[in-house]
Amino acid sequence: MNWDDLYKDPRFCLKNPAEEVVKIVPILQSRGTKRILDLGFGAGRHIIYLAKLGFTMYGTDLSKRGEQITKEWLEQEKLQAKLVMSDMTVIPYPDDFFDACICRGVITHNVVNGIRTCITEMHRTLSPGGVVMCTFISRESSEYRKGEEVEPHTFAPDEGIEAGVPHHFVDEEEARSLMQCFKTIEVYHMKHGGLIDMGTPYVSAHWVFLGEK
Ligand SMILES: C[S@@+](CC[C@H](N)C(=O)[O-])C[C@H]1O[C@@H](n2cnc3c(N)ncnc32)[C@H](O)[C@@H]1O
Repeated sequence: MNWDDLYKDPRFCLKNPAEEVVKIVPILQSRGTKRILDLGFGAGRHIIYLAKLGFTMYGTDLSKRGEQITKEWLEQEKLQAKLVMSDMTVIPYPDDFFDACICRGVITHNVVNGIRTCITEMHRTLSPGGVVMCTFISRESSEYRKGEEVEPHTFAPDEGIEAGVPHHFVDEEEARSLMQCFKTIEVYHMKHGGLIDMGTPYVSAHWVFLGEK
């Protein structure tokens, strides 16, 4: 899939921050967080939201179009962020560089090996005591088991905007196990009707892992 196609459709260019990102701001502030990596920044909503709050923002993603939308939005808001095109399995920054990392709705789009590599990179680049917030798509999502099964609990949908992209679905035990290199602060489940109008109703469900290095 070319991720640029996603951001040709304004439905996917979300403007308001996700509630799981809003929820961690007091934790970030209480720890004196400065540098935050938004891994898979998309069309920039969390880059803008967190930059406005005074954090120093860095982002990685694969979509040039998402990067362009984010750069224009940053300019309008007179804000700054360092954006880099990079696969989730490579974070092009030194060890212990970030005070926090958020990875929302991104890591799901991979097979387990790729997910493990991404988590190793998040851990490597996070400073000791740094906070990580990572979401995983849940097996309670209505998309679970749709499309081709490419490995256990990983399905590539046959249709829709993300056709052919592997999606790995976790339960709580697997979310905790994948993130075991971090100390756990909180793990919780979010389940609600789909927030984006996709034509047919769907259930969106995620595990949210909040932890520290
Ligand atoms: C559902 S969007 C989430 C965007 C943003 N985190 C948010 O919450 O608004 C998924 C993002 O993951 C990015 N992405 C997908 N696969 C990727 C990969 N292998 N490496 C880096 N980014 C990837 C896509 O380009 C897209 O911007």
